[in-house]
This record gives sequence, structure tokens and C-alpha cells, in this order.
Amino acid sequence: MAFTAVILAAGQGTRMKSATPKVLHDLCGRPMVLWPVIAAQQAGADHVIVVDSADRPTAQVLPDGVELAVQAQPDGTGGAVKAAAPQINGAGPVVVLAGDVPLVSPQAIEDLVSHHNGAATMLTTILDDPTGYGRVVRNGNGSVERVVETKRPGDATEQELAIHEVNTGIFCFDAKALQDALTKLTANNAQGELYLPQVLELIDGAAAAHIANDPRLVLGINDRVALAHVRELAQREILEHHMRNGVTFTDPRSATVDVTVTIAPDVTIEPRTSLKGATSIDTNATVGPDTTLIDTTVGANATVRVTWADTAAIGPGAIVGPFAYLRPGANLATKSKVGTFVEVKNSNIGEGSKVPHLSYIGDTDIGEDSNIGAGTITANYDGYDKHRTTIGSRVKSSSDVTFIAPVSVGDDAWTAAGSVISQDIPDGALGVARSRQRNIDGYASRKRETDDTDHPGPD
Ligand code: UD1
Ligand code: CA
Repeated sequence: MAFTAVILAAGQGTRMKSATPKVLHDLCGRPMVLWPVIAAQQAGADHVIVVDSADRPTAQVLPDGVELAVQAQPDGTGGAVKAAAPQINGAGPVVVLAGDVPLVSPQAIEDLVSHHNGAATMLTTILDDPTGYGRVVRNGNGSVERVVETKRPGDATEQELAIHEVNTGIFCFDAKALQDALTKLTANNAQGELYLPQVLELIDGAAAAHIANDPRLVLGINDRVALAHVRELAQREILEHHMRNGVTFTDPRSATVDVTVTIAPDVTIEPRTSLKGATSIDTNATVGPDTTLIDTTVGANATVRVTWADTAAIGPGAIVGPFAYLRPGANLATKSKVGTFVEVKNSNIGEGSKVPHLSYIGDTDIGEDSNIGAGTITANYDGYDKHRTTIGSRVKSSSDVTFIAPVSVGDDAWTAAGSVISQDIPDGALGVARSRQRNIDGYASRKRETDDTDHPGPD
């Protein structure tokens, strides 16, 4: 059923001790606040409103179609929903979620919406240790009377503190009844705030509770200890999702995979591998150990070992590493190779071409089936500007060659080892650019004679 979701996300979150607002902290590749936003969308919300504070820090991360409402003063959870009230105009019910409770699942939201049939349904759960949460007070016949807050002394009695059923902070309301009740909220409580749960007492119609058997619904993030704990749970869930889809993690404890990453079946992820952002890995590829891929694509059957890659494209069957550094714009075509201690930036390595050892390839286009010798450097920067190097197909560049860009090497050309190539090489030619070697005959014995007279050795 279509519904409106209101996500409460105003407030700095002082316990994070951060210049970044709490709800913008990263959780597995996605700002915290977008977790409930996306869960609501996946559960079928057709209108999503995020309640932000006056400086609107979430504006920079909200996806298209998600609205922002401003709560001018942090006057409580009730005040936050009140701030969104003028923007609530859909036909369906209103679901309220918290921006710092990111593990709420689409399923839990759907369940709540389908159980809702009165004016208000609160999602509750039973905790062994309910400390700090609002307790659910039920009357003699078991129906919900109200929520009593416990954060500050003064709101709850001893008996109320003994209750283990807590408010998750997640609610479903009839839109019209909610609008009406919000106008009646009072700040008559220990914190002098507008408490959203007071709506249960004020609303015109039945207020009920739906008990969820999922403790993650109340796992809120107040500090970085809680963030680390929630991240561990979220990470495990992401990995299990990929495992169930056919991905092997040889050491799941050391893998970190952002929620935004896609991995095809029959991929193997080796230990200590981190996959971030828009990274995607095609079938039968092997990635890791000791590899970080950021916004990088890996083709089918590729092998990427001990590598750092950022905004690179690794083609099908390509072989990368160990000890490779791929920087933005590194495009490795099918079955190409970038080997050990090789850095590639803003360059196209053509199909079947190989840069096996100890090279820097920057601002370069290499054709197909070329071999770049060990220690080859493209000198792309003249101190003022960057220039491109163009290397054709089936080129054999020998070891320790420097290409001074802009320069271009024709198809089937060769270069001599140790050359500094500053002029274009035509197709099929050999470029030699090094001083000629001369051999001085008899040097060693003449040196021995002069050494013996000038510096007599020990007896
Ligand atoms: C709230 C509930 C409590 C429940 C608990 C579950 C109230 C009064 N209490 O307590 O019953 O057990 O959640 O986690 O509702 N927010 C705003 N503007 C504000 C105040 C809060 O947007 O003025 C947002 C916060 O950013 C947060 C959410 O509302 O995302 C919850 O606020 P918080 O202060 O954490 O409420 P709790 O004390 O945890
Ligand atoms: Ca909280």
C-alpha cells in the first residue's frame, strides 16, 4: 500500500564529536540517513519527507524525489513531525522513522503498514535491557495507553521503569488524525519537548502497538561505538546477501563491501579486500587479497591481486597486480595486463597489451597486443602541461624506456632498451635513443698495475 514516510533527522548528534552531522556519517557506503529513506522507498513509500535542521545538511545527499522539511528549533520528536505536517498530503497512511536507526528493513515497514488499521500503530519490541527507551504502558485489557519517557528522571515511575516493552520510535498513523493530534501536543514533560508518542493519547481513534521480533529496529546510533556495532551488522548482512547470490568470500571477517557494490555469481573475494562505491565485478573474477577497489568495474574472468584502484575499468580476463595502482581513467581492455609495481592513470591499455613490471603509464593510449618493457615511463608532464603518449598495436617497447610526451609510436614498432624517446617512431621502425657503448680493452689489468704501485696492499 502506498504511504508517506517521514524520517526524523534534525539535530547535530553531539555525541559523535564530529564536524559532520550524525546522519551524514557513512554506513557501508551510504550516509546513515539514506538507509531508512531507501528502506521506506523499497517498502512502497510514494512520498518521502526528511526532517532536517535549519542549516539543511542532508540536502546534499537526498536523492531526487525525496523532500526536505525544516524543523527550525529542536523541540522534540513531536515537533519534528509537526515541521513536516504541511508537506504531508498523500492519500495513504504516514509512517514515521528515525534517521539514526538505519537497520530498519523494508519488510518491517511493510509489516507495520499492513497491521495498521486504526488511527495510530506504534512499532514496539521487547528488550532484556530497556534502559533509555520509552516504555509502553498498557491498560488493564492490554491495549496501549501511552509511552513514558525515561531518558531524564521525572517522566517515569519505578513500576514504569520495570516495563520491557519499548517504543522503537517507528509509527504508522492515519494522516488526517495525525495532523489533528499534532496541533494538540504539549511540552509538559521532563525535557520540555514535544514528544511524538503523546500523539497516541491525543489522537482521535484507536491507538495500537505492533510488537516486532527484531531488536535491530531500536539500534540507534548516538556515538561512534554504536556506529561501529551497527556497521558490523550491516556489513555481515551485505556479505551474506552476496554469498547467497553465489559469491565466495574466503575470509568474510576481513572483507568490507559497500551496500552500493554489485558482484556477479562465481566471483571469489580473497582476504582483506575492500569494495567501495559503484564498484561492480563480473562473473568468475578473482579479487584480492589486499585489494581496494573504489568505483571500479572488473570484467568477467579478470584477476586483481594486491591492488588499489580508483575509478578504473578492468576488462574481461585482464590480470592486475600484485602491487598495481590504477588511478582514475585507467581503462584496461580485454585480456590486458598491468603487473607488479605499475601505476596507470588516465590511459587506455588495449586488448591483449601488457605492462608487466615497474612502470608509470599516464595519459597514454596503447593499442592491441603491445608489450611494454620493465621500467617503462611515460613522461607526461613537461612542468607546465600534461601531454599524451600514443603507442600503437603490436609494439615491443624494451626495458627502461622513457617516452617524452607528446610522442607517438606506430604499429609494429620497436624501441631499444634504455631509450629516451622524444620523437615519433613510424610503423614498424626501431627507435633507438641512447649513447653508443664503447668497450675499453685491457682496462682491468692496467688498473690492477697502477693500483699495486700507488696503494700497496696488506702483506
Ligand atoms: C525516542 C522516543 C522513545 C523511543 C526511542 C526509540 C520520543 C520522545 N521518544 O527517544 O520513546 O523509545 O526514540 O529509539 O519520541 N529528532 C528530530 N528533532 C528533534 C528531536 C529528535 O528530528 O527535535 C530526531 C532525531 O534526529 C532522531 C529521532 O528524532 O533521529 C529520535 O530522537 P531521539 O532524541 O534520539 O529520541 P530518543 O530519546 O531516542
Ligand atoms: Ca535515539
